[in-house]
Amino acid sequence: MNRMKKYGAAMLFAGMLSSAFAQVGQQGSNDQLEKYRPSYHFTPKQGWMNDPNGMVYLNGNYHLFFQHNPEKSVWGPMHWGHAISKDLIHWDEQKIALYPDSLGTIFSGSSVIDKNNTAGFGKGAMVAIFTHHNHQEEERKTGLHQNQSLAYSLDQGATWTKYKGNPVLPNPGIWDFRDPKVMWFEKSKSWIMTLATKDCITFYSSKNLKEWKKESEFGKEVGAHGGVWECPDLIPMKYKGETKWVLLVSINPGGPNGGSVTQYFVGDFDGHQFQPADTSIKWLDWGPDNYAGVTWSNLGGRQLMIGWMSNWQYANVVPTTRWRSSSTIPRDLALQKVDQKYYVSSSAAPELAKAFRPVKKYRANQSKELSIQEQLPQAFRLDINKLKQQNFKVILSNTIGNELVVGYDKDQKAYYIDRSKSGEIAFNADFPKTSTAKRLSNNESLSLSLYIDVSSVELFADGGLTAMTGLFFPQEPMTRLRIVGEDNLIFQDIDIAAFKDK
Ligand code: FRU
Repeated sequence: MNRMKKYGAAMLFAGMLSSAFAQVGQQGSNDQLEKYRPSYHFTPKQGWMNDPNGMVYLNGNYHLFFQHNPEKSVWGPMHWGHAISKDLIHWDEQKIALYPDSLGTIFSGSSVIDKNNTAGFGKGAMVAIFTHHNHQEEERKTGLHQNQSLAYSLDQGATWTKYKGNPVLPNPGIWDFRDPKVMWFEKSKSWIMTLATKDCITFYSSKNLKEWKKESEFGKEVGAHGGVWECPDLIPMKYKGETKWVLLVSINPGGPNGGSVTQYFVGDFDGHQFQPADTSIKWLDWGPDNYAGVTWSNLGGRQLMIGWMSNWQYANVVPTTRWRSSSTIPRDLALQKVDQKYYVSSSAAPELAKAFRPVKKYRANQSKELSIQEQLPQAFRLDINKLKQQNFKVILSNTIGNELVVGYDKDQKAYYIDRSKSGEIAFNADFPKTSTAKRLSNNESLSLSLYIDVSSVELFADGGLTAMTGLFFPQEPMTRLRIVGEDNLIFQDIDIAAFKDK
């Protein structure tokens, strides 16, 4: 879809719908307004959120900035919202970090800690590199409306100053020219910017964050091209002691289950060029609701990612009103090899384990169904360890017949999420469609972890080799859980752990 159309349409939503939504919001009861708010996922207190931005770790704080329209719960003039967590479980929303200015609104980007004061803003300055999006320029159709700019903070992200020389990387005439992700490349003692440029990625280098030199392009001929390329990330990852480079690229639309999705390539990067080890199409998360995910900077070798838990197909109309959109849980990325090919697996950040307390444990049971009927927590984790392969379903339901199904189809060798009867689904025609995910692992038995949090499910199967994320909006809380096999369920153990606090 054409960018202008997308943003134009969203702006129209903002104009037409949001005041009505805001009013509905004011009138609804607090319970109604908070109905779908998750417990251990970050959501803004009010207003709209999309991509995570500028994530950086500093002095015990995980900083999360995000695309934010504070006034309305639909996409609109973008700011960088800000939240901080010390434990990756609880998030404290901060003052807005970056406001729109005469150069435009503040689109996605990244942050780095400038330890050697290369930019001259101060030693250890937190520097944000983001896209200025100029809506007037966009209307003039010059194609020059997106430019890369800097802002810096000398007080650990509390207050920000925009650089006077903005933009630092002016648009050369590319309509989609955005979402800079910057990292330090030690070998050449340079900053490398990975930028989404329409249908490919362009790499730039700089010694001071202010002057950028084009190095190379990647991807015009490879990968998935169902939609525009956005929100890239280039990350070094180790496999058996060897360093490989992973390039994440979000595309919209073009996902295996429709709409927004993140693909990735594994290969080598020499400071100038990225060379993929193979060019097959790989999805970081097959579900419909994990987009624009990128990793934290300044975390040593750890590759910790968070995504936006929605999809441009319906993000503006999901049935929440006071706030719209949540982040995924923070996930650790790791490199694995299956049939001679590299894959990136995702798993819940281990810090999250502290947030759950065991409530139920089953061992090697010999029936076709396990049923938990007593009051089920709304935020919990379900671990299924070493289940003998067969068709099976995890069914979450309530007293009025809403059902969310997460299952495995042995013939198709695929996991799936079926939300066709999950509650509120009519707000968008694509939402009720079942999404499927290829099982990549060749392990004999199935092991999965499901993170459920009021209105979302995140599935990590086979050590996270296959991940799927999906939203659902039950009309009443889901109070019942069943695990139903085609045959007797033979497994090592099944554990349910409840989220401990709100
Ligand atoms: C991805 C995206 C980015 C852009 C931002 C605007 O979801 O379209 O490419 O910077 O959202 O909010």
